[in-house]
Amino acid sequence: MHILFVADPLDQFKIYKDTTFSMMREAQRRGHRIAACLPQDMQWVSGGLVTATVQQITLTGDVTEWYRVDTTEPMALKDFDAVLMRKDPPFDAEYIYATHLLEQAEREGARVVNSPRALRDHPEKLAIMEFPQFVTPTLVTRSAQAVKDFHAVHKDIILKPLDGMGGMGIFRVKADALNLGSIIETLNKDGAETIMVQRFVPDVVEGDKRILIIDGVPAPFVLARIPQGTEVRGNLAAGGLGVAQPLTPRNREIAETIGKALAPRGLLLIGLDVIGDAVTEINVTSPTCFQEITEQTGFDVPAMFIDALEAHLARAPRA
Ligand SMILES: Nc1ncnc2c1ncn2[C@@H]1O[C@H](COP(=O)(O)OP(=O)(O)O)[C@@H](O)[C@H]1O
Ligand SMILES: [Mg+2]
Repeated sequence: MHILFVADPLDQFKIYKDTTFSMMREAQRRGHRIAACLPQDMQWVSGGLVTATVQQITLTGDVTEWYRVDTTEPMALKDFDAVLMRKDPPFDAEYIYATHLLEQAEREGARVVNSPRALRDHPEKLAIMEFPQFVTPTLVTRSAQAVKDFHAVHKDIILKPLDGMGGMGIFRVKADALNLGSIIETLNKDGAETIMVQRFVPDVVEGDKRILIIDGVPAPFVLARIPQGTEVRGNLAAGGLGVAQPLTPRNREIAETIGKALAPRGLLLIGLDVIGDAVTEINVTSPTCFQEITEQTGFDVPAMFIDALEAHLARAPRA
């Protein structure tokens, strides 16, 4: 197969932990050819096709000069066997435009994973609203008063912006309501921005668990990201410690239910975040943690993913 990765600049990859890199390595190991481009390398012209200036690359096995560019050339996206959208958030207007170009490429016959439409339809924090049975008490609002009322009921809460990642802009407010007014102003900017507020889930001390769901099937091991020191945030980017653990039966049930609902929408890879048994995020843009789980458990997540990709493409061969 010939696989195009739409991703962030290769030069910025930290290959010892990067999930996209681990996908490329497994794909190349199986004899697939790899190309890469940035979202801004894509374009469409009326009367033509969605094309991208792509780098055909070979992974060298070296840790610093980890890839070699064989050629740089324009190619139609439909001429690849698969296009993997692996650009990291921000989920901003440019991200959305990229999904529209990818959707146009699909109309022309390209096979894009995850589905560009599904990427737009499942904003990572708000997507939990579809599964209220699995969430801790949660409020989505622009109203400062609604947040105060929610705090008065639940006492210990977490406030978060909808467009954050890596723990950015996450605040905890306990029963004393210390700083609540100021935090609300900071996050919702006088009612201009929608925020999410949740009852604090104490199980977070055992970790914010990343469950990978690949074509509807949860991987058998998760990565618990455990907050360190005085931190409430388990994000690896916020200094959280990543510890791989077997998937619990209850978490498996939750992941299977969500996987069954979302995989048919073209979400081949989902990174579900669960604290205790509460789902807090459904990550679909470029879920990570493949390498951490594989290194600690020996379970080969990249192989599970490429198996699923190959099966997915074989199931519905293009016209
Ligand atoms: N309801 C909650 N209860 C306890 N801790 C939470 C809750 N929501 C988030 N956190 C903590 O904040 C961190 C980041 O929150 P999250 O919603 O995953 O946003 P991000 O997109 O920044 O990762 C989590 O890893 C967890 O440690
Ligand atoms: Mg998170």
